[in-house]
Amino acid sequence: MSSKAVGSTRKLGHASAVSPLVKDLLAKDSRPLSPALKASCQPETEAKRIPFSRYLDPQFAKLEMERLWSKVWQYACREEDIPAVGDRLCYEVGGLSFIIVRSAANEIRAFHNSCMHRGNRLCDGQGSGESLRCSFHAWEWKLDGSMLNLPSSWDFSQVDVERYRLPEAKVECWGGFVFINPDSHAGPLKPVLGVLPEHFASWKPEERFTFIHVRKLVRANWKATMEAFLEAYHVIETHSDAMPFTGDASTQYDIWDDGSSHISRLITPLGVPSPHLGDDASVQAALDAVMQVFALAMGPDAVLPKFDASKGTGRADIAEWRRQMLAAGFGRDFSGLCDAEIVDTIQYLMFPNFCPWYGEGLPLVYQFLPFGDNPNESVMDIRLLLPAPGGGIPCPPSADIIELGFDEDFDAAPQLGLVAHIFNQDMGNLPKIQLGMKSAGPARAYATLGRYQESRIQHFHATLERYLGI
Ligand code: FES
Ligand SMILES: [Fe+2]
Repeated sequence: MSSKAVGSTRKLGHASAVSPLVKDLLAKDSRPLSPALKASCQPETEAKRIPFSRYLDPQFAKLEMERLWSKVWQYACREEDIPAVGDRLCYEVGGLSFIIVRSAANEIRAFHNSCMHRGNRLCDGQGSGESLRCSFHAWEWKLDGSMLNLPSSWDFSQVDVERYRLPEAKVECWGGFVFINPDSHAGPLKPVLGVLPEHFASWKPEERFTFIHVRKLVRANWKATMEAFLEAYHVIETHSDAMPFTGDASTQYDIWDDGSSHISRLITPLGVPSPHLGDDASVQAALDAVMQVFALAMGPDAVLPKFDASKGTGRADIAEWRRQMLAAGFGRDFSGLCDAEIVDTIQYLMFPNFCPWYGEGLPLVYQFLPFGDNPNESVMDIRLLLPAPGGGIPCPPSADIIELGFDEDFDAAPQLGLVAHIFNQDMGNLPKIQLGMKSAGPARAYATLGRYQESRIQHFHATLERYLGI
């Protein structure tokens, strides 16, 4: 690298004559911007090298279990996954496992998934029942964690039943999301959520439900898997077929960090051509292509209006059409949402691994988790959250999980439509990234990150270093 490039002023994205930066698109939005979209924070992150050993070394993975996953507030599931008292599911992060159970109508608890007798797992997958009972010798606990039954109690004079409560992790909820923290000394969740409650206030994630739920095993470290979704820089090669309608290089990246909360965000505009395609790229083609994307959810017989790019209001026209389609589909009012909230992809990350998307452009939630104690494997959990229907119509139940193995692609989840194709493109890279990092020359075994487009990854690693004390 030339000395001139090092330390030169950081550029905040790249626009073309027909594809402006996000801030310029927002300035022309046809509606008032929500607090989330008015907010922007783009601090300079350090251009540090990220050693590949962080993704490969079992000792590093062990450190993450001890100092990160055992200590941090983390998203476990959605409240609608366990709607009735007694419903429970298993939340696994690396080698840790917790039973998340609805212990009362308005109470959710998380227990370490281990019998206090000889350590048998108490729960696998999802289920329901009036108690938590071990399948080995039938030790049994009430849903609040107090002991219910100790078979042959005459033989356990050393056991004080009152003190044999199932060990618990802390639980708090926000926006319909259930968070746990295994650290009994942890402070409350709220300071960790940072800007999220304010930014998501009008979007109301608590009034949504899981319409599609896919869980995919990936042959890559959990951080490599997550980082593949934190920037739009890779669109130029990995998703080149999306360039005609995606403002990849004009994406806006934001970071909010007050020491307690570590939040980042990207806003990638749709319905505009990639700035990489130059000043002569077709705006009409961008509008037509993004209409095809939005029409996917409407079935093959959908009749699409045609919007004229020469009028210069294409994105606003598409947004208005979608507001009406969404209102008809869900019986709710979407008239207050601005164009960007209806058209663009807006994705947040709450450290370490919770990625809720914002707006109706693509209302996904990602979660990235280590898989067992193997640093080469991870789990990517994906949900599509739809608005709960209005007008007194009961909310549909949470979708069953579609489990995809290491060698299954997203074609096995056709409900995802075009998004399945995009995930397949991303997944094609991940095992190669993991292998490639192992093959790096010893003097060059580190990542070199873009100063703006990969600033969220820089911020993530700076935060991780603090948690791990390295
Ligand atoms: S291990 Fe659970 S009852 Fe024996
Ligand atoms: Fe991607």
